[in-house]
Amino acid sequence: MDKFTIDGNRRLTGQVGISGSKNAALPIMAAVLASDGPLHLSGVPDLVDVHSLLSLLETLGVDSQYGDDGQLRLLVQTRQPHVAHYDLVRRMRASICVLGPLLARRGRARVSLPGGCNIGHRPIDLHLKGLAALGADIRVEQGYVIATAERLCGASIFLGGPCGSTVTGTCNLMSAATLAEGRTVIEAAACEPEVVDLGECLRKMGAHIDGLGTPRIEIEGVSQLGGATHRVIPDRIEAATLMIAAAITGGHVEIAPIRPDHLVAVREVLEQTGVRIETSTGCDSLASLVTTAPPVLAPTTLTALPYPGIPTDVQAQLMALLSRADGISVITDKVFPDRFLHAAELGRLGARIVREGPTAVIHGVPRLSGANVMASDLRASAALVLAGLAAEGTTTVRRIYHLDRGYERLDTKLNQLGGQVIRSEDKPVATPPHWAAPASHLAIDG
Ligand code: EPZ
Repeated sequence: MDKFTIDGNRRLTGQVGISGSKNAALPIMAAVLASDGPLHLSGVPDLVDVHSLLSLLETLGVDSQYGDDGQLRLLVQTRQPHVAHYDLVRRMRASICVLGPLLARRGRARVSLPGGCNIGHRPIDLHLKGLAALGADIRVEQGYVIATAERLCGASIFLGGPCGSTVTGTCNLMSAATLAEGRTVIEAAACEPEVVDLGECLRKMGAHIDGLGTPRIEIEGVSQLGGATHRVIPDRIEAATLMIAAAITGGHVEIAPIRPDHLVAVREVLEQTGVRIETSTGCDSLASLVTTAPPVLAPTTLTALPYPGIPTDVQAQLMALLSRADGISVITDKVFPDRFLHAAELGRLGARIVREGPTAVIHGVPRLSGANVMASDLRASAALVLAGLAAEGTTTVRRIYHLDRGYERLDTKLNQLGGQVIRSEDKPVATPPHWAAPASHLAIDG
């Protein structure tokens, strides 16, 4: 298990590259299960979650070749396997993305239910409701979803849930509907860029899809999907994280490539804090963004919402930033109302945060001070790293495996900008025998 040791209070400056999007790559990789041809992907980030999915796809008969330049070639070798085992699925919730394409192409799927999650309640009832609407027989037994369907039939599906639509649910149903008989309309579909990117790739594979990026997606089923060549979109969440790294350290950082249209809400909220953002146009809608921090950060109020709102995946990072603002800020998360585990750990660095249900009130402080903190989930660990970069003194962030699931060499990128983030093995400290407390007090949340 690794940890980061961060020597804080260093201004980040310079240029850094943005990797391909984790949340676009994962459902696109899963879509190969619906294809009868090879999938040649580029811009696939070198992440733990990507390799976890490759391991799962291998058990489902998919051959993969991953190059260190982000090139990934996928091809189905056998369609016999149909079980996504618990031991592999439990590593990563996004494994649920295999359910739709697997069922649509092989007529059966047995996929372990995703486990619990530190960011809140994450059911898959909408995924199952949609697949049942497409004519699948769905049972949940012994911790597995068991789905069968001779051939899926197009249907109208409403995917609205208590916290908006579902991103991976829309991905699952869109992938499945491409091979269903007839027409499928998904109402209250997710509009996230990652869903659009999957849809664009499915179109290249021969799918007939309209309405991508809108709450109403229409799919005309086809008999077969072929291969495709596709570049994954840049990761807008990594981009936002690095923009906030510049803002929280008083820095000046250029990031590229990015899609400016994917970062409108993030840009809006950062400019409210006094951050200056300039875009330079590039080619095929890609560009670079320059983020310049203000001398003093202004407080603001924000609510995390489904796209095109402020992404819930940037909420923790924005909380770290606003802990250094000159005043009181308020953050509400309407997507994951319990996604505030990072607040307590930010408090260990001197942040003053009071949580009230789905809302947190942040009393900005003039400085943070380094401390030992522990990551609890992917974006919480990013928030702690950002706060450590700004804090005076040394910050140790433990359980960095959370970060490695979704950020490609973040320490290298931050050090390239002038940060000092040292990765090392987190060896357990031997406690003197007389300190040994009864075992029940030693257990920590795993
Ligand atoms: C995707 O998760 C992302 N993961 C998450 O990013 C992201 O936070 C989330 O979308 C919201 O944008 C991937 O794309 C791999 P949802 P997903 O289904 O699809 C409720 C990260 O940090 N819901 O859109 O699992 C659910 O409880 C990760 O990269 C139902 O009620 O999220 C939540 O409140 C974390 N029933 C809301 O919808 C369902 O069947 C949004 O969930 C499904 C979801």
